[in-house]
Amino acid sequence: EKGGYEHFMLKEIFEQPKSIHDTMRGRLLVDEGVIKMAGIWDHVERFKNANRIIIIACGTSWHAGLIGEYLIEEYARIPVEVEYASEFRYRNPIITDKDVVIAISQSGETADTMAALKLAKEKGAFIYGICNVVDSSIARITDAGSYTHAGPEIGVASTKAFTAQLTILTLIAFKLGKHNGTLGNAEFMSLIAELDAIPKRVEEVLGTTHELVQNIAKDFVNATNFLYLGRGYNYPAALEGALKLKEISYIHAEGYPAAEMKHGPIALIDENMPIVIIAPKKGHYDKIVSNVQEIKARKGKVIAVVNKGDQQVSSMADYVIEIPETSECFSPIVASVPLQLLAYYIAVYRGANVDQPRNLAKSVTVE
Ligand code: F6R
Repeated sequence: EKGGYEHFMLKEIFEQPKSIHDTMRGRLLVDEGVIKMAGIWDHVERFKNANRIIIIACGTSWHAGLIGEYLIEEYARIPVEVEYASEFRYRNPIITDKDVVIAISQSGETADTMAALKLAKEKGAFIYGICNVVDSSIARITDAGSYTHAGPEIGVASTKAFTAQLTILTLIAFKLGKHNGTLGNAEFMSLIAELDAIPKRVEEVLGTTHELVQNIAKDFVNATNFLYLGRGYNYPAALEGALKLKEISYIHAEGYPAAEMKHGPIALIDENMPIVIIAPKKGHYDKIVSNVQEIKARKGKVIAVVNKGDQQVSSMADYVIEIPETSECFSPIVASVPLQLLAYYIAVYRGANVDQPRNLAKSVTVE
């Protein structure tokens, strides 16, 4: 049932070209220039006229939510806030019937997310679900929603569900942007064509980085700390990369927006600190270059995720992982793949139980 892979996690990482494609199937109609999503379309005026959209989630799904904020604000120009479900529900949040609340949950059973949604519903908000498990509790109490069709995710560390969540959020942002007139037709057409090709980009990145990342992982089996840095859309991707490593390898890791480094974490950098930097060309590249210079001046070990043909960051980095170039909004999907592999192989070489990490459960049904 692991399809020849040693662990479910690796199988699920490799399933991503298909799971992303499945999530778009029947929704993204490139030739017609249409995104079909009944859940959004039936309530499109509620979204359009929302005071704001509040995204609630936990863990990896919360990271997807942060990227959703960048997507929806950039393309649909609707204000978005992203909250941890556990914080939101206990702070008497200000919600009205003019708000739209989107819950993101792979399992659809997370207790805090469920409770936060119930609260939002009581206050009259329109509630929307992005779940992977069909007919789950969250999917059932929402007013409308879109399933990620990633298929069952068995590995406790979320991988293909995350990239499927990003795919749905991208579709929603583009659909709302087109409807609101904030995303012009020409740009819409070119973005959806690019989105349609993302499964191929992911396939490509799996092929070109798998062995390389496996080798890089060998050098970090005894690491005790890691920093992950990114800017813009790749700041949440850095958080997610760090979470994957923590969960399955038990190495302490932190994700940071790269520019925040000088406000504290830079004090940690010495020759023993590995730092993963996500630095695609379209994503504040020049700013990242200076972050890398600051790190190298302190002898940090840089593992850089860059676009093919990159020179500046690559010439300073200790390890270089190349990913294909995309519009910035798609780069977290593509960049996440080698980071999943890195966490996976470091954990495997440490002899950890990758599919069932200690202390973790696949669905967190208690708060
Ligand atoms: C990370 C992970 C957890 C979940 C979190 C939310 O790999 O698995 O952080 O993302 O518990 O779970 P769902 O999405 O089921 O609500």
